[in-house]
Amino acid sequence: MFKVAPSILSADFANLGRDVASIAGSGADYVHFDVMDGNFVPNLSFGLPVLRDVRRVTSLPLDVHLMIDRPVRYVGHFCDAGADIVTVHVEADSEENIREALTCIRNKRKRPAICLKPGTPAEAAAPYLALCSLILVMTVEPGFGGQSFMADMMPKVSALRHMIDRQNPGCELEVDGGVDLKTALACAGAGANVFVTGSAFFKAADRASFVSAIHAMEHETGRN
Ligand code: DX5
Ligand code: ZN
Repeated sequence: MFKVAPSILSADFANLGRDVASIAGSGADYVHFDVMDGNFVPNLSFGLPVLRDVRRVTSLPLDVHLMIDRPVRYVGHFCDAGADIVTVHVEADSEENIREALTCIRNKRKRPAICLKPGTPAEAAAPYLALCSLILVMTVEPGFGGQSFMADMMPKVSALRHMIDRQNPGCELEVDGGVDLKTALACAGAGANVFVTGSAFFKAADRASFVSAIHAMEHETGRN
């Protein structure tokens, strides 16, 4: 099933409750929550207290993307604060510690996920594939909303789609960065089924139509 995950990084933080309500009202599937630590990426965003407050105002699944060093230190806290999906970057720690983070998320009865930066090959997901409920492919360098989509990530999305279909068919494949109606179609064709969208969603004149157009791509691309 195709899913849309609007990113609140592009929300108006002075009206965050209103903007989270607008995500639910649009028919979107997840709320994407970008956590940045100023080390793993050159930017700071928001963290646990904001997640707890967002949890109180929506029943949509919270898709938490941790752009932080050594995420094993924090994944349990994000699960306890209300995350449903917790995504860690494979570049952020040793294989042993990434495995430990994913196991911790699973033990909290939440959905473990990994993310690959643009320079990280599809094969880097292999050691974790069986442990994951979702794999996120960055289609921009992580750190900022509003950047241009990297079309050269599409072969990586296709490669991961093949790995997932063979080894863990229930796993979702998500793309993040520069996703709008045009670039979502390219991602869909390559095998993605979850679409993070920040600036394009919040700028859309009609957010519900924007979300429906991405949902409809499932039939256009002949995938399910
Ligand atoms: C970037 C974040 C994204 C960001 C996407 O590091 O991970 O989730 O919000 O924003 P757009 O859709 O504007 O590229
Ligand atoms: Zn993100």
